[in-house]
Amino acid sequence: MAGAQQTSQGAAISAIAGSTSLSAQAKATILAEALPYMQRYSRQTVVVKFGGHAMGDAQLAASFAQDIVLLKQSGVNVIVVHGGGPQIAGMLKRLQLKSEFVHGLRVTDKPTVEVVEMVLAGLINKDIVTSINRQGGKAVGISGKDANLVIARKITEMMDPESNLMKAVDIGYVGDPAEINPHIVEVISQSDLIPVIAPVAMSREGETLNINADTFASALAARMKAKRLLLLTDVAGVLDKNKTLLPRLTIEEARGLMRDGTITEGMIPKVEGCIEVVEAGVEGVVILDGRVPHCVLLELFTEHGIGTLVGRKAKKAG
Ligand SMILES: Nc1ncnc2c1ncn2[C@@H]1O[C@H](COP(=O)(O)OP(=O)(O)OP(=O)(O)O)[C@@H](O)[C@H]1O
Ligand SMILES: [Mg+2]
Repeated sequence: MAGAQQTSQGAAISAIAGSTSLSAQAKATILAEALPYMQRYSRQTVVVKFGGHAMGDAQLAASFAQDIVLLKQSGVNVIVVHGGGPQIAGMLKRLQLKSEFVHGLRVTDKPTVEVVEMVLAGLINKDIVTSINRQGGKAVGISGKDANLVIARKITEMMDPESNLMKAVDIGYVGDPAEINPHIVEVISQSDLIPVIAPVAMSREGETLNINADTFASALAARMKAKRLLLLTDVAGVLDKNKTLLPRLTIEEARGLMRDGTITEGMIPKVEGCIEVVEAGVEGVVILDGRVPHCVLLELFTEHGIGTLVGRKAKKAG
C-alpha cells in the first residue's frame, strides 16, 4: 500500500472510531474485532515513546492518554517514555540561555542540563501524568534516575555523516544508557500503575545526563524484552528521498538509508534504536505518526498499521 494512502486510511479509521453517527451495532462489532488483539497483548510489555513534537497539541495529548489508559485496562503492561526537544528549546529561549552548537548538535552545558531536567522530569513528565490521570488512569512519573533505572555514560564520540567514521565530540551533559535496572518499572507496571519516564539519568560519577528519548525507550524495550516498541513522532514514519512513507524496512535497508543520507537528524536515533531492539528479539518495532488521533490503538488493536515497521525481514509483525 502506498504511504500516503496508508496515512489517510489511518486518519479515516480514527475518524470512524471517534464518530458518534455509527450505529450501536457497528460500535459493538468494532469492539469485538479488537478482542484477539487485546488477548495478544494481555500481560505483555509495550513501550510507547511520545515525541516532543507530537505532544504540543492538547487534543492529541488527550487521545494519546485515552489510548494508554485503554491499553492498561486491557491488561497490557504499558510503559511511556517521553521526549521534549521543542519544549526544552522554548524554555531556553524564555530564559535567554544561548547554546553553542557542534556539528549541528546543541552543546548541553551545566545551566542547560538544569533546564533540560526541569522541563523533562518536571513540566512535561507531570503534564503527561496529568493527562493520563484525567482519563481515569494512575500514572506515576519518574526519570531514569529513580531507583537507578538507567546509569548513563557521557557521549564522547559520534559517527561523522560525511566520512562514516567515529569522531571525538564534546557535547556536554548528554549520555547513552550504559546500564539498565528495570526493577522500578516492573514493580510499577505490574500493578495498576502506569510508569511515565523522563529521559534523564545519572552517570557513574553522579552527573546528570540527558539521553535522547528514542535511545532511552529502545534500550529499555530491549532490556525488558518488550513485545512491542512504538516510537511516536511528527512525521508519517520513515520517508524515502521522494518523501514517500516506507511502510516496512529491514535492518539492512535502514542502515543503507542512514549511510546515503536519506535518514538524518532526529530520525537517526529512532532507526538506530529500532535496529537495537529488533536485534534484541522484540518482534514489533514501529515508527508512527503521533499526529494521528488514537494512533496507538490503531497500531495495536486493529489490523491497520500506520507508519514504518522495522524488522528482520520486511514482514508485518504479529
Ligand atoms: N528519512 C526521514 N524520514 C522522516 N523524518 C526524517 C527523516 N530524516 C530526518 N527526519 C526528521 O526527523 C524528525 C523526527 O525526529 P525529532 O527528533 O525531530 O522528533 P521527535 O523524536 O518526535 O521528538 P523529540 O525529539 O522531542 O522526542 C522529523 O520531523 C524529520 O524532520
Ligand atoms: Mg527526537
